[in-house]
Amino acid sequence: MDKWIDINLLEKYPEASDTMIKEALDMCMEQVKNNLPEFEEHFPAANSEGNFYTPGINTDWTSGFWTGEVWLSYENAKNATDKELFERAGKKQADSFLNRINIRHYIDHHDMGFLYIPSCVAAYSLISYENAKEAAIKAADQLCSRYRPEGKYIQAWGEMWARDNARLIIDCMLNVPLLYWASEVTKDEHYAEIAKNHILTTMKHIIRDDDSTWHTIFFDPDTGEFSHGATCQGYKDASAWARGQAWGIYGTAIAYKNTGDKEYIKYFERVSKYFLKHLPTDLCPYWDLCFGDGDENEQPRDSSSAAIAVCGFLEMSKYLDEEDKAYYTSVAKKIMYSLIKNYQVKDRSISNGQLLHGTYAKKTPYNTCKNSGVDECVIWGDYFFMEALNRILRPGSMSYF
Ligand code: GLY
Repeated sequence: MDKWIDINLLEKYPEASDTMIKEALDMCMEQVKNNLPEFEEHFPAANSEGNFYTPGINTDWTSGFWTGEVWLSYENAKNATDKELFERAGKKQADSFLNRINIRHYIDHHDMGFLYIPSCVAAYSLISYENAKEAAIKAADQLCSRYRPEGKYIQAWGEMWARDNARLIIDCMLNVPLLYWASEVTKDEHYAEIAKNHILTTMKHIIRDDDSTWHTIFFDPDTGEFSHGATCQGYKDASAWARGQAWGIYGTAIAYKNTGDKEYIKYFERVSKYFLKHLPTDLCPYWDLCFGDGDENEQPRDSSSAAIAVCGFLEMSKYLDEEDKAYYTSVAKKIMYSLIKNYQVKDRSISNGQLLHGTYAKKTPYNTCKNSGVDECVIWGDYFFMEALNRILRPGSMSYF
């Protein structure tokens, strides 16, 4: 029991039943379908305002998640008419991603995985759409162009080689799967080599002694030596930004999937334990894990972190022995029970999103972000919520990350 949080601490909620999961996914797909007239040619913003997304162009790091919702709906469509509808929209959006990489519109950052995995890798995997393959390979090349060999990591943000930009962030663990995919498709190992090096560098420095994680780590711009950890979106440098910890959970599970290196199971257990230990009783974290029950009047939650962590628990469950698998699957289903019951949008008149109470970024005196999407739907929360439902209902289905 030492490596686990006592499941009794999570006892307030039962596991979501298959019927509950199925109904929840049906509701999500209905929402996607209803959103299509407004969002077939356009993309929702990163976060809602007053719980409603507005349509915009394919420009942010988050545009791929909506297309991912469309492909998840395609996969689960109940009839040929719906399937056709989702396929048409998904292809149109994949074309938009090809155009985006071709004209190099807002691609000078590391979020190529978030953009191109749920949109184009999904499209290619599901319907062998060649435009999507071309787009995703170009995106993988773009991601490789941000690799810094002196420190063996992918630079997260900003102008390459600028001295202040020598940093990676934990979120990138979800961008590098694009490189493994590209290696598989092209048979060119250099993508996987960069992915492996980036993950090794990240894991060497990002987990602190208490098993919480840094959001971002800096390196000496000349030698590539580790310099220090810091936060951008967490409450303060040494606190544990909930979503960063969740990216760590899902990221280590994917790292294991792609490498088979058992070290990643240990990292997964460490970051998972810290995350679970710091959940409030409704199993949906506050936006930073330094907050707990009693803080609900001052601090918003980040439901997207819960959905991301669930995807990580379910991915890693595939590779664990029976006992560990049963534990993480049960934890995942308990969290889903709470998300469905307390956070899922069930009435279109209150929101055109899927999951309420996400937090994109909250400004504090100690961090470097600005307020955006505080206590709102966030589009990746919607996507990972649907991915988690799909994973439970169809455990054998493909997962694109
Ligand atoms: N990857 C950016 C975020 O999680 O807000």
